[in-house]
Amino acid sequence: MRVLSGIQPTGRFHWGNYFGAIRQYIALQTNEQAFYFIADLHALTTVHRPDDLKMYTWEAALDLLALGLDPARATLFRQSDVPEVTELTWLLMTVTQMSLLEKCHAYKDKIAKGLPADAGLFTYPVLMAADILAYDSDLVPVGQDQIQHIEVTRDLAQRFNHRFESDVFVLPNPQVLDSSAKVLGTDGEKMSKSYGNTIEIFHPAKKLRKKIMSIKTDSTPVEDPKDPNACAVFTLFRLFADQAEQQALAERYRAGGMGYGEAKQALFEQAEAYFAEAVARREQLAAAPDRVEEILQAGAASARLKARGVLNRARAACGLG
Ligand code: ADP
Ligand code: TRP
Repeated sequence: MRVLSGIQPTGRFHWGNYFGAIRQYIALQTNEQAFYFIADLHALTTVHRPDDLKMYTWEAALDLLALGLDPARATLFRQSDVPEVTELTWLLMTVTQMSLLEKCHAYKDKIAKGLPADAGLFTYPVLMAADILAYDSDLVPVGQDQIQHIEVTRDLAQRFNHRFESDVFVLPNPQVLDSSAKVLGTDGEKMSKSYGNTIEIFHPAKKLRKKIMSIKTDSTPVEDPKDPNACAVFTLFRLFADQAEQQALAERYRAGGMGYGEAKQALFEQAEAYFAEAVARREQLAAAPDRVEEILQAGAASARLKARGVLNRARAACGLG
């Protein structure tokens, strides 16, 4: 079974990205054939400074490798290093109904807010369909918000197969990532770059501590008992701690006499220890950029080989070449 997923380099990865997506992708590399890519072409719909796009793409590669993506097991590459995908996007565009794209939420939301939308945003789901179909992907792990795009992908694959009386494309299935893993940000809302409430995985220790200390808490006095489950600090602590550690901290909340500062300090220590190995690995990777580039190039080469075969099938089916 081939598993494929992509993640956009639109900023530095945060705890929400890790627990909601990255950790789960990486776990799949153990038992399945995995293709993971950095969706730089998609990011171009929102990141407009070339230096930023370059930097976020590079940082994304370092982050994913540091967090345990193993190039010996999984194929990691930059989306834009596989031009076969953009060619396939065009072929798919010719079976895409306008009305299908008009229903897609990324575009619809922008229009609803009165914001200008470009054709890149409008056709974003077709590029995503090409990403998936180019590698005969069976399973696509994604967050809830991306399910609609997998449905579009299946629709386009079926239309193409039907129009050209072929079975060029394999129909993919989504694997919805664990939505209970919704991670809260420093303001107690869902953590997201667009809300400016993120805690990044690789903040330097001082910055990490500062961010954690800024998590919003209520004004219950130190001596009073507190409800751990109503507190964002505790909810975040649970991501990093085992059962016994969670219980111990929950008891301190309920007993009273503990200020939120102490709980934040506990969260800081727990998070720092949790990512310590990844931080060390990231430092090594950052010091060996040639090695990282080699991994991305090798990944692109094997992705291209696969995509070329699928593209040739599609070209032959519709009478090109
Ligand atoms: P952001 O909202 O910060 O822009 P993205 O939309 O780029 O993040 O998300 C990339 C992946 O991380 C998606 O699969 C998404 O489901 C997951 N993700 C993002 N934020 C969270 C969160 N707070 N909790 C759980 N998963 C999240
Ligand atoms: N659109 C996805 C997101 O924003 C990223 C993405 C691009 C993707 N192409 C993909 C995910 C193909 C899965 C498969 O999260």
